[in-house]
Amino acid sequence: MTQAFYQKWRPQTWEQVVGQEHVITTLQNAVAADRVAHAQLFAGPRGTGKTTTARLLAKAVNCLAEDLSSRPCNQCKHCRAVNQGRFLDLIEIDAASNTSVDDVRDLRDKINFSPNQGRYKVYIIDEVHMLSTAAFNALLKTLEEPPEHAIFVLATTEVHKIPATVLSRCQRHEFRNLSVTDMVAQLKDVAASEGLDADPDALALIARQATGSMRDAISLLDQLASTSEQITLEITRDVLGTATSQSVLALVDALLADDSAAGLDQLHQTLDSGRDPRQFARQVVDYLRGLLLVRMGNADQVDVPAELRAQMAEHAQAFAVSDLLEIIRNFNHAASDSRNAWQPALPLEIAFVQSLQQPSPEGTPAPQQGESKRVPGRAQPPEPEPATRQESSPGESDIDSVPQNMMKNWGKILQQVRDRNPQTQALLNSCKPMGMKGNALVLGFNGEFAKSKMESGENLEIFQQVLEEILGRKITAICIVAKGGEMPAEIDQEGMVATALRDLGGEIVDIQ
Ligand SMILES: Nc1ncnc2c1ncn2[C@@H]1O[C@H](COP(=O)(O)OP(=O)(O)OP(=O)(O)O)[C@@H](O)[C@H]1O
Ligand SMILES: [Mg+2]
Ligand SMILES: [Zn+2]
Repeated sequence: MTQAFYQKWRPQTWEQVVGQEHVITTLQNAVAADRVAHAQLFAGPRGTGKTTTARLLAKAVNCLAEDLSSRPCNQCKHCRAVNQGRFLDLIEIDAASNTSVDDVRDLRDKINFSPNQGRYKVYIIDEVHMLSTAAFNALLKTLEEPPEHAIFVLATTEVHKIPATVLSRCQRHEFRNLSVTDMVAQLKDVAASEGLDADPDALALIARQATGSMRDAISLLDQLASTSEQITLEITRDVLGTATSQSVLALVDALLADDSAAGLDQLHQTLDSGRDPRQFARQVVDYLRGLLLVRMGNADQVDVPAELRAQMAEHAQAFAVSDLLEIIRNFNHAASDSRNAWQPALPLEIAFVQSLQQPSPEGTPAPQQGESKRVPGRAQPPEPEPATRQESSPGESDIDSVPQNMMKNWGKILQQVRDRNPQTQALLNSCKPMGMKGNALVLGFNGEFAKSKMESGENLEIFQQVLEEILGRKITAICIVAKGGEMPAEIDQEGMVATALRDLGGEIVDIQ
């Protein structure tokens, strides 16, 4: 099988690492002076060169070249062994799958044995923030007094999750997102070496899409290369899909319109089409950051295709700066949060719902009906669509129109649920309120798992209490699994759920 571009083009020398000069110079000097720290922490966004640099360091400290400043030489047997992935003293541990204290103890026992081949055993612990507290404590002992022959490189995308005790024992290096210019230069090299004919505009578009991650940029180029040898702007647009930016725009539109249903639908559509949730969250952040810059009068610093500029200017004017900041924070959180979520869409859903207009804090007057809490120019929230079509269902007059009250207060309901139990709110974010029948609210979940979670513990009780407090009446919640597909025939077509679903536009695939 052919190697993926990003693996094939992993830098083998210090000089080939782009955009991290501050880190590379420090490490190069340490190697040349034979004073490499025994515990290093590489912090920074994904795909910016942490693992690459850690391997370079492992190679350099074990290189056999006489001249210290020319290490790694890539010629000696140790350098070659590292390059071929068969150097026994380079040990890479993925903390995401070895989080337990036993794993760290195991490491601690083995570390005292001398290196097999080289001068140093180099331990690269990737995603180190995933270690449990007990595992961190066990690791701490080793970091305090590492054997002379051991070097640790801890790599993380989430440095704020690393205990201070660990941080204080490491030499810390901050990796940065790569600039579009650096990425374009690198992409040009890769394209030329691969014999691709790539239009500079196309490479710029790829680089922008990669939002700072060189790995993503190279992977996108890889994807394009498999489509065509000539990479034009047009082909790039087609393959990367303007659909992507369309989905960001649609999400922002939904935020402005305060339309939770449209926004959540948009999110689900985007993720169903196979987009990575974190990548999507980053694109949203990137766009919002652009709006912020435009809003602050720095439109010239925003690097977007001409056709997007007008749209950006319009969106930028529609938000208050304080709202923009808050929304950016919410989605930024989602951008770093999705990896561990048991529900991949959840962090995005939470970010979206939190970014909808929140009820005014106590003491400040609530906005008048029809008056926007955001700045003038903001689109008015549309009237929630009545979900029942009473005129077309004369026999079912006992079904409530989805009460406007419920829709209007949904943000507030979620907020109060969250105050009592964030997990309950998270579960509510993964369902769709489908409609009312009398005093029962039907909640449609995407799958059995979320549905049964919602039904367990105190979740329903908390939700019902909040409903009663906010809406002033007792409402029972009923959970069903409901996603695309026909209503099964065995469901009583005149029964409550069936009627609610038919009239409220839901579709059901499973029912207890
Ligand atoms: N600074 C860089 N200069 C040149 N190429 C880079 C750089 N950063 C990343 N790359 C490219 O991306 C690939 C992946 O990089 P690497 O594995 O070092 O990222 P990482 O920072 O460890 O990411 P993660 O946090 O996801 O583990 C490399 O093989 C290389 O092709
Ligand atoms: Mg890595
Ligand atoms: Zn060497």
